[in-house]
Amino acid sequence: MAEEYDLVVLGGGTGGYVAAIRASQLGMKVAIVEKEKLGGTCLHRGCIPSKALLRSAEVYRLMKNSQQYGVEIENFRLDFAQVQKRKENIVNTLHQGVKSLMKKWKIDLYHGFGRILGPSIFSPLSGTISVEYEDGRENTMLVPKYVLIATGSRPSALPGLVPDGVNIVTSDHSLEWDNLPSSVLIIGGGVIGVEWASLLADFGVEVTVLEYAEQILPNMDDAVAKELTNQLKKKGIEIVTGAKVLPDASSSSGRMEITAELKDGERKMFQAEKILLAVGRSPNTENIGLENTDIELENGYIRTSEFYQTKESHIYAIGDCIGGLQLAHAASHEGIIAVEHMNNLTPESLSYENIPSCIYTDPEVASIGLSEKEAKERGMEVKVGKFPFQAIGKAHVHGDTEGFVKIIANKINDDIVGIHMVGPNVTELISEASLAKLLDATPWEISKTVHAHPTLAEIIGEAAMSVDGNQIHG
Ligand code: NAI
Repeated sequence: MAEEYDLVVLGGGTGGYVAAIRASQLGMKVAIVEKEKLGGTCLHRGCIPSKALLRSAEVYRLMKNSQQYGVEIENFRLDFAQVQKRKENIVNTLHQGVKSLMKKWKIDLYHGFGRILGPSIFSPLSGTISVEYEDGRENTMLVPKYVLIATGSRPSALPGLVPDGVNIVTSDHSLEWDNLPSSVLIIGGGVIGVEWASLLADFGVEVTVLEYAEQILPNMDDAVAKELTNQLKKKGIEIVTGAKVLPDASSSSGRMEITAELKDGERKMFQAEKILLAVGRSPNTENIGLENTDIELENGYIRTSEFYQTKESHIYAIGDCIGGLQLAHAASHEGIIAVEHMNNLTPESLSYENIPSCIYTDPEVASIGLSEKEAKERGMEVKVGKFPFQAIGKAHVHGDTEGFVKIIANKINDDIVGIHMVGPNVTELISEASLAKLLDATPWEISKTVHAHPTLAEIIGEAAMSVDGNQIHG
């Protein structure tokens, strides 16, 4: 059986399903092939479930500190089964939402494993998709004019440290824990590592983070990484940077043991009930039939043009499987651009310096553009404004005065080069920075934007004024 489509999207994650909707809006006949559930990593194993757990951790933390707000609470306890149930309800609700969007936009969903075929009896071009089903049903052949590969990524492992799902886990496993372990050794102090460190510590778990680089969040602005390090340490998290984890974990009296070589060459043993690997993600580009095409790979990632066309011009690829920022919102924007490009709408290419990154630790971190170090490495002359939450009235009301906003501007033309934040609600505040970057605003223009009082957002106006030394409250 062969079905013809204008577009077949391989992978129904955030990148894939958003692209499919845009394609349908543009009049294309579209199908998605998804082997698991619509919504992909972000909805089922990433952004949404982890943020649901983080929210519960935040509520628990607030309960523990409620006295500070004049609220005495006796006998409260953590019901982790309910924490997990709440997370599952959220995921299920959003999953239903995505499924109904597919109906609304008349997108066909094939629930199976899609493999790209080379030129065949179905088409002289590569790109026919063979959908294979788990129950052994005969494959369906989808013959599209265009293919969009959006197969995503999976957690990477380390040599000698293969996740068994019980003692050595990735975030895929820890998201499903029925009970919290008493202690966790997190390998990798990147985005996933620090989010898990923060949430586990808030739930009362003993946490150690082993990070290979000189700082956690190695790609973040140094000042932000330093502030987060201090705040996480205040929660009791042990953070060891410059730690080279040696292969082979062993288990002794129910605890996992691992050895790391530290900066000074000393070898130290670390122990915990579980080891959580958070050392990056690998692209899902194997077994999908790329060998039947001329598509090129680089370190396992699919190479594309700025409009996400592969070497085969009718096959596009977006999201984690092409590398780069590996963020859900980057993938969805890439998907829209790819589909508009197929339809000759001449979209603008995406500026990756205008894509915000958010980390949902306590305190939160958010960032857009270049770090001060990156700007200087590019030979830019910069001026920097930095303003603390300590001087913002609403931060005191909120009960959260740690952190700051840092704005880096080009000294020559006043362009904003980067905005980096750590503190309360900064994952929401970053959207103003995104708009400012998109519209090429200068710090002066941000400072002329009226920020309501009292709001946390006032910090952005003050940080912008501080770029030229004109801040009012600091
Ligand atoms: P990552 O690349 O952010 O961090 C991995 C960390 O592990 C790095 O700091 C690296 O130096 C360290 N590392 C690597 N090998 C190591 C070793 N042998 N020993 C010790 N440390 C080692 O990757 P992560 O945290 O796994 O996240 C994967 C992707 O998912 C990222 O691209 C991230 O942006 C995305 N993500 C985004 C989230 C968000 O937007 N809030 C949440 C979670 C993930």
